[in-house]
Amino acid sequence: MDFSELVNARHSVRQFETGVTISDQELQTIFEQVVASPSSFNLQHWQFVIVREPTRKTELRSLSFGQAQVEQCSAVVLVCGNLNAHADAERIYADSDAQMRDKYVPMIEGVYKGQLALQREEAVRSGALAAMSLMYAARNRGWDCGPMIGFDADAVAAMLDLPEHVVPVMMMVMGRAEGGRQPPRGYRRPLQEVVHFESFGQTTFK
Ligand SMILES: Cc1cc2nc3c(=O)[nH]c(=O)nc-3n(C[C@H](O)[C@H](O)[C@H](O)COP(=O)(O)O)c2cc1C
Repeated sequence: MDFSELVNARHSVRQFETGVTISDQELQTIFEQVVASPSSFNLQHWQFVIVREPTRKTELRSLSFGQAQVEQCSAVVLVCGNLNAHADAERIYADSDAQMRDKYVPMIEGVYKGQLALQREEAVRSGALAAMSLMYAARNRGWDCGPMIGFDADAVAAMLDLPEHVVPVMMMVMGRAEGGRQPPRGYRRPLQEVVHFESFGQTTFK
């Protein structure tokens, strides 16, 4: 799909065909594209937990204020962020040239070590970018997604056995929109309200 078409085709879907399965192969193809997303220092903080088992989706629904799409969809993906991604710098830069490795590995340690707020911000930033990629990659292959923050993050983290250093960023429901129906595009703020040239509040588009 051409990118402009893809942008127009993506909507947050909340009503899915029930009983539609998504295969490991299909998910693998999608996630191979998702992990091409950018991240600070290429640390790739993202982690994903995919739930397809019907009884587990029902349990997740009960932890998501009863939102029906969590049960009806083909897969629930919990997009997470790794607070300790910086600890893998040596491995990530192992194949880089020595000059780059010697520059970045100590720099990464200096930037993140003990910086708990920054570690969390970065985990959420990378996770959010991966979530966006997931929505486009899935849509490009005919799947619909719904991003969600309406869930009990602590309870979901416990249910999915997340280790302490892995935090939920966003829940993503994936499946086929019921009847192929896409919700209408919601209101968008005009560009003049959100885009600023040179400094905030100066000039914008005419
Ligand atoms: C971080 C995030 C959290 C969201 N949480 C929910 C949610 O819990 N339930 C829901 O129905 N929609 C949720 N949405 C979907 C938004 O309502 C939707 O993106 C917005 O209305 C714009 O519609 P569109 O995505 O179809 O363009 C969420 C979206 C984002 C990005």
